[in-house]
Amino acid sequence: MTSTLLTGISELWTLDPALDDPARPGQVTEEQVLHEAALVIEDGRVAWTGPASQAPSADEREDLGGRAVLPGWVDSHSHLVFDGDRAAEFEARMAGQAYAAGGIGVTTSATREASDERLRTLVRARLAEAAAGGTTTMETKTGYGLTVADEARAARLLAALAADGELDEVTFLGAHLVPSEYDGQDGRPGAEEYVDLVAGEMLEAVAEHVRWIDVFCEEGAFDPARSERVLRAGAAAGLGLRVHGNQLGRSGGVALAAALGAASVDHLNHLAPEDVEALAATASRPTADGDAPGLLAVDAGPTVATVLPACDLSTRAPLAPARELLDAGAALAIASNCNPGTSYTSAMSFCVATAVLQMHLSLAEAVRAATRGGALALRRSDVGHLGTGARADLHVLDAPAAIHLAYRPGMPLTHQVHRRGVRIA
Ligand code: NIG
Repeated sequence: MTSTLLTGISELWTLDPALDDPARPGQVTEEQVLHEAALVIEDGRVAWTGPASQAPSADEREDLGGRAVLPGWVDSHSHLVFDGDRAAEFEARMAGQAYAAGGIGVTTSATREASDERLRTLVRARLAEAAAGGTTTMETKTGYGLTVADEARAARLLAALAADGELDEVTFLGAHLVPSEYDGQDGRPGAEEYVDLVAGEMLEAVAEHVRWIDVFCEEGAFDPARSERVLRAGAAAGLGLRVHGNQLGRSGGVALAAALGAASVDHLNHLAPEDVEALAATASRPTADGDAPGLLAVDAGPTVATVLPACDLSTRAPLAPARELLDAGAALAIASNCNPGTSYTSAMSFCVATAVLQMHLSLAEAVRAATRGGALALRRSDVGHLGTGARADLHVLDAPAAIHLAYRPGMPLTHQVHRRGVRIA
């Protein structure tokens, strides 16, 4: 087993959970950021971190030249299985048109027509783009198939990539939009029948391939009652719950997610004080071990408030109140929501910079939300930090300090990316 010693690290953000301060949830402690540090990788895991002056010897050695090292980003919300382009819709939005979820149908048509091979190639290219920007853990969803066959195809494709170690978490989002063939017109079935399908035959077809079920709880998509039906069916099948909530209005998604113990509720652009309180109240729910090392149980722990800064900009939505959520004590994550309609970017460094510059988080709060926060939202203990035993997922910045991410927004600051101890970018 070869060991590698990395030296020349000006800042090493271990974010080691063992060094959390329970009195300051969501905050990075002084001990979690080392200066003039070194790190040893062995067998794809972090074997040692500490002051460079005390570094042990190793089989191989690399000097990073005075750069900052962070855990790789943990992107807990993306929709990568799609074909087609909605640049025209985006352009119209920038000219004043409001976002309407109807564009999901446009992508669904293009995705259904794409071959398996084409979809796989597209997803892999998108994963590579994300990795090039420092993302080392990625969740992605089905949701542009919306038939039993097409959702099962997307789930199988993603599960195969996950089995190959190319992505980490797979979510079933059959409840993304009620497809036009269920419009209830001219004798065609309606939304209730589509919910029956999602919660029944479709769920059965995908369940073995996914760990999560998600629902777009929004006016124009699925109301809280229908969303609850889908989520309860998913929970009965052993899946963890995720919710798209309060994106276009006060949809009830946040209340539903907190009530059902969802692992995450994402978007959060329209929150009343009681929504913030409901999320904060879940923060004390303890996590529990899952059924494999590095995995936590999907049905225990806080409902993580996941904000999507790139999506908020791309839809000109009111920014999700990340500052208020954190101040209230909610568990916070930042994710890209990479998708063709509302956020065609997987650039987590951009999301972090936006959270600092526009959402008024400190750099440390934003980095933590995009690493540890994402890991909690995905119920994983093996990623999002560089404590001993963690997956050796490293984001080496071409900068001496992580603050450069917000100080020099948009600059290409990713110098190296390592996943499971292997350099991937
Ligand atoms: O998370 N809100 C629902 N789903 C995506 C958008 C999908 C689309 O417009 O294609 C989102 O923003």
